[in-house]
Amino acid sequence: MMLRFLCCLLLLSRFVPAGAQAIPPPIAIETEHVSLVLTVGTNQKLYQTYLGPKLTAADRQSLPQPGPFDAYMPAPGEAYVPAGTDNLFEPAIGMVHADGNPSLALVFAEVQTSQTGDDLITTTVHLRDPAYPVDVRLHFAAYQKEDVIKTWMEITHREKKPVVLTNYASAMLRLHAPHYWLTQLHGDWASEAKEVEGELTSGLKVIDSKLGGTRAGWYQTPSFFLALDKPATETSGEVLAGTLAWTGSFRLAFEVDNLNTLRVLPGLNPFASAYTLPANQPFVTPEFIFTYSPAGKGPASRNLHRWARRYGVLDGTAPRPTLLNNWETTLTAFTESRLDSLMGDAARLGAQIFLLDDGWFGNKYPRNNDKVGLGDWQPDRAKLPHGLGHLVQTATKAGIKFGIWVEPEMVNPKSELYEKHPDWVLRLPNRPEDYSRNQLVLDLTNPKVQDFVFQVVDEQLSQGVAYVKWDCNRMMTSAYSPYLGRDQSHLYIDYVRGLYKVFDRMRSKYPHVPMMLCSGGGARADYGGLKYFTDFWASDNTDAFERVFIQWGFLNFFPSNTLASHVTNWNRQHTLKFRTDVALMGKLGYDLDVSKLSVDELTFSRQAVQNYKRLTPVLAQGDVFRLRSPYEGNQVALLYVDEAQRHAVALSYNLHTRFHEPVLPVRFQGLNPAQRYLVREINLMPGQKDTLPAHDHTYSGDYLMKVGVLLSDPDATQLTSHVLEVLAE
Ligand code: GLA
Repeated sequence: MMLRFLCCLLLLSRFVPAGAQAIPPPIAIETEHVSLVLTVGTNQKLYQTYLGPKLTAADRQSLPQPGPFDAYMPAPGEAYVPAGTDNLFEPAIGMVHADGNPSLALVFAEVQTSQTGDDLITTTVHLRDPAYPVDVRLHFAAYQKEDVIKTWMEITHREKKPVVLTNYASAMLRLHAPHYWLTQLHGDWASEAKEVEGELTSGLKVIDSKLGGTRAGWYQTPSFFLALDKPATETSGEVLAGTLAWTGSFRLAFEVDNLNTLRVLPGLNPFASAYTLPANQPFVTPEFIFTYSPAGKGPASRNLHRWARRYGVLDGTAPRPTLLNNWETTLTAFTESRLDSLMGDAARLGAQIFLLDDGWFGNKYPRNNDKVGLGDWQPDRAKLPHGLGHLVQTATKAGIKFGIWVEPEMVNPKSELYEKHPDWVLRLPNRPEDYSRNQLVLDLTNPKVQDFVFQVVDEQLSQGVAYVKWDCNRMMTSAYSPYLGRDQSHLYIDYVRGLYKVFDRMRSKYPHVPMMLCSGGGARADYGGLKYFTDFWASDNTDAFERVFIQWGFLNFFPSNTLASHVTNWNRQHTLKFRTDVALMGKLGYDLDVSKLSVDELTFSRQAVQNYKRLTPVLAQGDVFRLRSPYEGNQVALLYVDEAQRHAVALSYNLHTRFHEPVLPVRFQGLNPAQRYLVREINLMPGQKDTLPAHDHTYSGDYLMKVGVLLSDPDATQLTSHVLEVLAE
C-alpha cells in the first residue's frame, strides 16, 4: 500500500531543446470534473486556452490556437505574464536583472507530469528567459476526487549578481465572461468574515493586506468566490473559489481588460517587498488553492472542505476534542485552586481538554493585564506555585487533558525578554516605538528568535501540555528588522518563512498535538497556517447572533471542524440552547463558568457535548449544505450530511422573525432521494417539548429535498434554534 502511494510515480517528460521550434501538445491540468489547458504557441510562449468544466481529449484539440501575436491579441492570453516586455495589464511576475534590465520574457522549456496514488497528479511547466539564465517553474497539483487544484511558482536564476523580484504571483488565471461577480470576506476585530458581493468593472480590483507577517487577515481575508456572468447562488452558477495559503501580507488582484477578459492574480503582496534574489536560490511562492463549480457556491465550498480535511489541515479527518477555556470566565485573574476547580468543571461537562488562556506567566512582570509580561514564558510563581506540572496532573486526575495559550511572537516592552534582547524586536531606528495592545513583534527573520519561539512551545509540550492556542495580537507597523540590515524589503516575506520554519520544527517533534491558530480573533484564517494547525479561532466576538454570520462567512472556505466555536456568556440574553446550537456550526467548545449553570443547563450541556461527539462523522466530517443564508433573511438553516448519505443534521436559527413573517418549509440537499429518513429533534433543554412538526416523522430523501420541512418557529419572540437529526432507516 505504502509502495503504491509513495512510489507509484509515473514520470512523463516532454523536453523541447532550446532553439527548437517543435510545438508540444496542449498541457491538460485536470481533476475529475475540471480542466485547465495550457498551450504553447508557435512563438514558444505559454498560453491559457481553457479553464472550466472538464473537456475530452478530443475537444482539447479543438481549442483555438494562440495567435496572432501582437499587443492587441484577443483571448486566449499568455498564461503567466512577465512584466517589462509586451505586457499591457497587471503582470504575474517582474524582475530587474543583475545588469539593470527591467524586463522578463518567458518561453516554454519542458513539462513534467507525475502521479501519486490515485488522487494526485502533479504537473510542472518549466519556462525560461531566452536571453537571461532565469527559470520559472509553474507547479500544479491536481486533486482528482476533490476537484481542487493547488498551484504555485518557483523562480531561480544563474546570473552573476542577485536579481530583484518586483512581482511574484502564485498563479495567473484567465476567465472570459460577459460579467464577473466577486464575493470577498472582510471585517475587523470582533466582526470578522463579513460577506460582500459586487460586480467587477473594467480595471483593477485589489483585495490585499499590508499588515506584514502578523495578524495579516485583520481586515481582508485571502479567499474569494468569483461567479461568471451573474451572481451565483448556493446551487447555481459558474463559480471559481480560491484561497491563498499564506499567513502574511497577500494580494488578490482581479483585472478586467479592454476585451472583458479577467486576469486573476493571487499571491504575496509586493508592497514594500522588492526581493533581492541571489543565484541558485529558489524563490518559492505560497500555494494558491482553487476549485471550479458549474453548480454554485455550495459545491465549490464542499470541494475545498473535502480537500482541506484530507490534505490542507493538520489531522483534518481526526476527531476534534471538545474543550473548556477559562478566558471569558476569569480573564487573567485566577489562582491555582481556581484552575483546579475549573478542570473539575471541564470533566463534569464531558469536555476532553481544559484550555488555560492568557495570564499564567511572568514573574518580574506578572501578566495580570495586557500591559506587561509578554515574552516571559515562565509560570507566575504567585499564581501557580506548583508550576504547569501540577495543572497537567490535576487534569490527568480529572480524566482530561491540559492545554495552554501562548503568544510567542510578541513582547511587551515591560518584560524581561525585552530588557535582555532589545535587538530581537521589530522597531524603527530614530522613531518612537509603535504599540498595539501594548506590545511589539519579535524579529522572526532572526534564527535565534526562531529558536526562542520554538523553545517556548517545546517547553510547554514537553511537560505534557496537550493542546495549544497560538495567539498573535498585533499587526506589523513601524517595523524594522535589526537582523535583515539593508534587506528591509524582505521583512514581510521572510518573517512568515521564519514562522513556518518554527511550525515545521514544532510539527516534526509533535506531529499530532491539536492546536488552535488565533490572531486577536480570526485574523489568521488561511491554509498556510492550517497546514500546521487543527483549528482556528474565528472571532473574539462570541455573541451567538453575531457568530451565525461570522461562522457562515468562514464556512465558505474552511471546513466546520477547523472553526473553533465556543458557547459563552457574552450575551446571556440568548438562551443557552441558542448559544449551543450556534456553536454546533463549527467545532464545539465552551468558555463559561460551568459551576454557575443550573442543573438543567448542565444536563443539557453534557448532552450537547455527547451529541457533538456522536455526530462527529456528520458535523465535523460531513458535507455542509448552506440552505438559508442569514444575509437573505431571518430564518437561517444548514444541513450537514455524512459521506454515506445515511446520517444528517439540520441546524436552524431563527434570528427573530418579524410579526407574521411567513415561515416556509426548507428544502434539504445532499440526501439520497431513494432513502427513507427518520427526522427527530435533539438538543432540547430538559422538559422542553419538540415543536417542529417534522419531529419523529419518516420521509424519503426525495420528499425532504423537493418539499422540505419547517425549521423555524412562526412568530418567535426571541432568537430560537433547532437541531434535527436525520437518520437513514
Ligand atoms: C486575544 C484572543 C482571545 C484571548 C486574548 C488573551 O484577544 O483572541 O481569545 O486569548 O487574546 O489575551
